[in-house]
Amino acid sequence: MDSASKSSFSLVSHIVLVLSASLGFLLPGAMCSSDFSTLVYKKCSNRSDSTESHSQTLSSLFQELLPRSSTSRFNKTTAGDENTGISAFFQCRNDLSNDECYHCVNTIPKVSNSLCKQALAARVHLDGCYLKYETDGLVDQETSTHELLHETCSERMVDGDGFEEAKQAAFAAMESGVVGEGGFYETNYENLHAMAQCQGDLRGCDCGECVSAAIQVAEEKCGRSVSGQVYLDECFMSYTLLSRSWETGRLIPRK
Ligand SMILES: *[C@@H]1O[C@H](CO)[C@@H](O)[C@H](O)[C@H]1NC(C)=O
Ligand SMILES: *[C@@H]1O[C@H](CO)[C@@H](O)[C@H](O)[C@H]1NC(C)=O
Repeated sequence: MDSASKSSFSLVSHIVLVLSASLGFLLPGAMCSSDFSTLVYKKCSNRSDSTESHSQTLSSLFQELLPRSSTSRFNKTTAGDENTGISAFFQCRNDLSNDECYHCVNTIPKVSNSLCKQALAARVHLDGCYLKYETDGLVDQETSTHELLHETCSERMVDGDGFEEAKQAAFAAMESGVVGEGGFYETNYENLHAMAQCQGDLRGCDCGECVSAAIQVAEEKCGRSVSGQVYLDECFMSYTLLSRSWETGRLIPRK
């Protein structure tokens, strides 16, 4: 590609991006069902069990757990006996409807089976929901509530004033809001959309501490990125700049 067609290509893709972003903003829900089941990340234990009994236990676990996603955002269960006990839970984003949660969670076994095969433990995080299962007695490396599992920062950076201030304010609101509002908080501060959620069984101060650790990671790693997502073991947060008011349109590569 010569440089002229390269820049007109990037102009076109830029317009498409801005258009789809503003459409998504004007018509929330219009792109949801496909968006929610996009894979964000997965983690599979490198130990696996290819026996019939392991896959049977896993499938009866899914059979019991998955229907519950039509009525709740978080639930956990265990299946199997002392030899092959597996415990699992799912978590949907609180802003999903019952139907959206159900469809999101029910997408996971297929993804898990193809990406994590017969792993003894796995965690599959889609855009709208995640599921984690673990075989009893599996001694993987220790995980802490605040362990960083995944993070993404947009390549595109904000080049202008006001962004840092808005981000600080949104993050501060999120940090206290997530505790008061039962583990989920979403805000539009100026042109910044920010969201945080704790795992269903992480409440109060533990939740606040997790989210504040996630915010710290976002501050350190994402800096002036237009958007960022940070996933810790028991909570996650994300932010996105909704309009281009602070942007010059310049794309500054991350180091
Ligand atoms: C796989 O697990 C073993 C412990 O069971 C560990 O020592 C090894 O580093 C792991 N390998 C990878 C690639 O994670
Ligand atoms: C999970 O769902 C079951 C069955 O609907 C219910 O009895 C149980 O209280 C739920 N557990 C949690 C942690 O929500």
